[in-house]
Amino acid sequence: MKKRQALHALFGAAVIAAASIGHAHAADATPFKIGFILPMTGQSASTGKQIQAAINLYMAQNGSTIAGRKIEVTVKDDGGVADTTRRIAQEMVVNDKIDVLAGFGLTPLAFATAPIATQSKTPMVVTAAATSAITEQSPYIVRTSFTLPQVTVPIADWAAKNGIKKVVTFVADYGPGLDAEKFFKSQFTLDGGQVIGEIRTPLKSPDFAPFLQKLADLKPDAVFCFLPSGQGAAFMKQFGERGLDKSGIRLIATGDVTDDDQLNDMGDVALGVVNSHHYSAAHPSAMNKKFVAAFEAANHFRPNFMAVAGYDGMHLIYNALAATKGKGGGGALLAAMKGQVFESPRGQILIDAQTRDIVQDVYIRKVERVPAMGNQLFNVEFDVQKAVKDPAKVK
Ligand code: DHB
Repeated sequence: MKKRQALHALFGAAVIAAASIGHAHAADATPFKIGFILPMTGQSASTGKQIQAAINLYMAQNGSTIAGRKIEVTVKDDGGVADTTRRIAQEMVVNDKIDVLAGFGLTPLAFATAPIATQSKTPMVVTAAATSAITEQSPYIVRTSFTLPQVTVPIADWAAKNGIKKVVTFVADYGPGLDAEKFFKSQFTLDGGQVIGEIRTPLKSPDFAPFLQKLADLKPDAVFCFLPSGQGAAFMKQFGERGLDKSGIRLIATGDVTDDDQLNDMGDVALGVVNSHHYSAAHPSAMNKKFVAAFEAANHFRPNFMAVAGYDGMHLIYNALAATKGKGGGGALLAAMKGQVFESPRGQILIDAQTRDIVQDVYIRKVERVPAMGNQLFNVEFDVQKAVKDPAKVK
C-alpha cells in the first residue's frame, strides 16, 4: 500500500474523485490534492453535508483534470472541534502533502488552522466561516463564503428605512455573532435607530427559551437575529411557540436564520421574515436555476449558502490551477486566486486582491410560499446592494 493510501485508510478519508481522466504528462504525474476539512458530524453537520454535495456536483460537471493534472479531493470530518481541525490540517500538510486546504465550517476552526497555512505556505480557501477577521489570520487565506458585517449592514439600512425604530439584537455568542451585533448597532444608530438590548446565546446546544423571555420583556419594534446555519429551525419553532410572532415584535435576520437547508420545514412562523444574505436557492438567474436543478437531482435536498460557497471554492481552485498550467505551488496559486471574478449561482463575485475576501451583491429577501416553485418556502429577493465589500475592511 502506498503511503497516501495508508494514511487514507488510517484517517478514514473519503477520496471523492481519484479517477484519472486521460494521461498526465510525466512532469505532472502527481495528483493535485485538495484537502477539505468540514464538520460532517455534530451540531454543524449540515454545513459539511451541503459542501460535500457541492464538491461532488462541481467535479461531476467539470471533471477531475486540469492542464493534464489529476485532481484529488479528500474530505475529512472535524466534528466542529477546533483541536481536531488543526490536527487534520497538520496531517494533510505534513503527511499527505496536499496543495490546498479548504472548508472550515465554523470560525474557531478557521482560526485554529490559519498558522498552519502560513507556516506551510499553503493556500487556505474558507468556504463557510464568516467572521470578518478570519482573512487577517494568514496571508494564505482566501474566502468564498461571506462576512457577517457584509450581510448585516444592508438589513440595518432596510430596517431604518422601514419604520423600525427600536431593535434588540439576538446573536450566537462567538465571532460572527459579535460581528453581527456590532455592525447592526453602528449602522442602525447611524441611520437614526436605537438598539435597546443585546442578547447573546451560547453556540453549543442553545435553549432559546430564557433569551426569548428577555426579548419579550424588552418589547422592541423588531428583533435582529443571527444564528449559525443549523440553528434557525429551533429558534423559529420556539419563537412561534411563545407567540412572539404575534406579539408585535417583528423578526428580521441574516439569511443564516432562514437557511435554505431548513427553511421549508419551518412552516408559517417564518412567513414574512425579512432578511439579508448573499444567496437564495430562489435567486432567479439562469445559472442558479441550472445549479439548483442539478444539485437537487443529485442529492434530493435544496442547496444553501454553504453549498454555493463550496461550489465556488472549487471553481476558484480549478481556475488557479489552470492559471499555473497545472504546476500549482502555494505562492503561484495564491496569486492566481487574488482578483478572480466569475459568475456564481449567487451572482457575480470578486476575490478582492488586497483583502483576499469576497465582494458580492447582498440581497434583501422575504420568506414567501412560492406557488410556481411547488408551494415551498423560499427567500424571495426584492432589493439588492451591489458589490458589497466587507465593511470591516473598508477604511
Ligand atoms: C459561521 C457559521 C455559520 O454556520 C454561519 O451561518 C455563519 C458563520 C461561523 O462560524 O463563522
